[in-house]
Amino acid sequence: MTWLHCIECGDRYGGNEPRYTCDCGGLLEVRYEETPSRSDFSGPLGVWRYSSVLPLETADSVTLHEGGTPLYDTEKLSDEIGVEIHVKHEGMNPTGSFKDRGMTVGVSKAIELGIERVACASTGNTSAALAAYGAAADIPAVVLLPQGKVAMGKVAQALMHGAHLVELDGNFDECLRIVRELADEGFFYVLNSINPYRLEGQKTIAFELLEQMNWEVPDRVVLPIGNAGNISAIYKGFREFYHGGIIDEMPMMTGVQAEGASPLVGALQKSGPLEPFESPETKATAIRIGDPVNAPKAREAIGETDGTATSVTDEELMDAQVKLAQREGIGVEPASATSVAGVKKLLNEGVIDSTETVACVTTGHLLKDPDAALEASGDTTKADATLEAVREALD
Ligand code: F0G
Repeated sequence: MTWLHCIECGDRYGGNEPRYTCDCGGLLEVRYEETPSRSDFSGPLGVWRYSSVLPLETADSVTLHEGGTPLYDTEKLSDEIGVEIHVKHEGMNPTGSFKDRGMTVGVSKAIELGIERVACASTGNTSAALAAYGAAADIPAVVLLPQGKVAMGKVAQALMHGAHLVELDGNFDECLRIVRELADEGFFYVLNSINPYRLEGQKTIAFELLEQMNWEVPDRVVLPIGNAGNISAIYKGFREFYHGGIIDEMPMMTGVQAEGASPLVGALQKSGPLEPFESPETKATAIRIGDPVNAPKAREAIGETDGTATSVTDEELMDAQVKLAQREGIGVEPASATSVAGVKKLLNEGVIDSTETVACVTTGHLLKDPDAALEASGDTTKADATLEAVREALD
């Protein structure tokens, strides 16, 4: 049994019709009658292993076998940065990002609700995942993108999976506002992270992380923040296990934004209201977001766990992307590398203690953004097709 709970006023909704926010305007989250229990989890590591604490009631799941992503120990990176870092590589999902966890649940729920058309605004990864799961479910998908600001791999995926892509002469925040207005008119069902069901899929990152760490709670979980859905979802996963008595402490939830798109960091520093960035800018285009809709949930995640948020420059995040790739063989897209760049910065500032165990969530795969990868990693060497020329080139 599930219902939707308003995080602001506590009102409750049954969840049998499309609804994204409370009548008071507050964000909603899914609540369950059942308490999670380890004995209910079965099947291979992946989202649907945790179906007892997911909100699907009657429909079959629309699945591409998402989740079950690797957790890497990073000896060389840890030594270099100065703290024990584990990397949960969400780029290893079917479409190459953590969004697949949200979409398997969100699209399945859409089918359960009898929805005929799904949509999202996107900086890229959400669109790729929506398109793929829409194709698997045989339901049309519409995507609004900020023109010229989405990495090539993501646009190609969304097109290849058959979504209807509309590029707007505006940023992500404007795309999302228009998607939400069209959804209110009944055009389609929104599967952005404003949708509480989608976030339920993403909370399984916390569950898997715990299983992969033999139920040892890491001191800190660090991840990028864009629209602030994922940090809220992972926090909720830990919180459910904490309240269910499965774990007895919470990790410090720590978010990292790109400096040119860091409204949440500013709001937390001032302990004041969030002031949106009108023109967010960063090479980490996935998190080029100026007005994160899930900011209230993210503030709870950070505040309740004694966590923090920080921002990093494009140079810092590109440097971390190269370190992950070249020290550890872990290929991530720029936004994902903010996690490691943020750890380095917070350690230097004395916010992170060198004795901590840190889990970084790398949210998307290197191949999503080949242009950024080339820019960060340098050029090829050219040579004539002769033995001597190649010998010389290699010297
Ligand atoms: N990392 C990557 C690779 C992303 O694609 C996103 C969000 C984030 C981090 C931030 O997650 O929004 O939950 O705080 N991408 C969205 C999209 C906005 O449209 O693909 P968040």
